[in-house]
Amino acid sequence: MFDGVARRYDITNTVLSFGQDRGWRKKTRKALDLRPGDIVLDLAAGTAVSTVELASSGAHCVAADFSLGMLKAGAHRHVPKVAADALSLPFADNSFDAATISFGLRNVNDVPKALAELRRVLKPGGRLVICEFSTPTLKPFRTVYMEYLMKALPAVATKVSSSPAAYVYLAESIRAWPDQFALGDLIRDAGFDHVRWQNMTGGIAAIHSARA
Ligand SMILES: C[S@@+](CC[C@H](N)C(=O)[O-])C[C@H]1O[C@@H](n2cnc3c(N)ncnc32)[C@H](O)[C@@H]1O
Repeated sequence: MFDGVARRYDITNTVLSFGQDRGWRKKTRKALDLRPGDIVLDLAAGTAVSTVELASSGAHCVAADFSLGMLKAGAHRHVPKVAADALSLPFADNSFDAATISFGLRNVNDVPKALAELRRVLKPGGRLVICEFSTPTLKPFRTVYMEYLMKALPAVATKVSSSPAAYVYLAESIRAWPDQFALGDLIRDAGFDHVRWQNMTGGIAAIHSARA
């Protein structure tokens, strides 16, 4: 599916999120508190649009994804790229100072396993930051947003994306995804501590942070 959306992935994101995606990526970088010299895993990095934002900190950032189509669509972005399955990462234990996954955890088909893999490859005390769609906190806004997700978003995607059907899946996967509290519990269950989160754009997206 991601190979199919790769060609117009970046522009479709920006259109569907009304340009909010750029701000969300900056906040993700800030939440990671990166320093030059840190070794950072950007998992499910896709076209590496999330990785270049992280690399602007001076940290050494590696983009990992199992869609070769997505990685190829980001070939012009000069960060190291690794073909990797989140459920069986090709990295040794305790390899990274920080790890992050933006709009990717919702797509892996075994979330606890992916979290366990992230914990395994992080150094003890390493920082985890997850940026993901979430649940708007105010009920009237949530109602309008759900209407946008299920009706307007697939219609707009038909005009912009290289694979509109994938955006019906996108809307359904966002609806089915755990809210802020439930994702916090999953992260804790994977053995992380200091779990906290900040809402963005009224809770449309949230950044969860934790320590390995
Ligand atoms: C919505 S894109 C996010 C890309 C990028 N992080 C961003 O913020 O734009 C989700 C990515 O998750 C990747 N993905 C899904 N399951 C995966 C898995 N098991 N292992 C590695 N990547 C996976 C897909 O290939 C896709 O590139």
